[in-house]
Amino acid sequence: MTAPAIALAADHGGVDLKSSLLDALTSAGHPVLDLGTDGPQSVDYPVFADRVAAAIADGRARFGVLVCGSGIGISIAANRHAHIRCALIHEETSARLSRQHNDANVIAFGGRLMGPELARVCLMTFLATPFEGGRHARRVEMLGRTG
Ligand code: RB5
Repeated sequence: MTAPAIALAADHGGVDLKSSLLDALTSAGHPVLDLGTDGPQSVDYPVFADRVAAAIADGRARFGVLVCGSGIGISIAANRHAHIRCALIHEETSARLSRQHNDANVIAFGGRLMGPELARVCLMTFLATPFEGGRHARRVEMLGRTG
């Protein structure tokens, strides 16, 4: 059976970090779904958050990685989708906790704020950490409420 992919997308502010994370994931043997953007031309980050959300919704990907300049806009856009729990991450402990306590399925970075090695470490920790469930499951379920 093919392992579920990790979907990656970025705007122009995150394209360099996306490229570096794509290399890291491929080297580590993860199947990757690259959903753009691919160059420095200015694009709109909600489009790329929507692409990753769609890939998770239709089962092409289990996890997503999103990058914009600060990580803020693209994480807000991702979290507009009820099935997405996107964590904007700047250090490794939060990457681990976003999985253990929040069952995050998307990790976001600021490509203009985060070095590639720290982002790689955070991403690998995120992918390797299971959800703890238990008391956290009830709270995560509440996140799916709308309105
Ligand atoms: C684009 O210049 C920039 O605004 C975007 O990448 C992001 O930082 C928005 O939150």
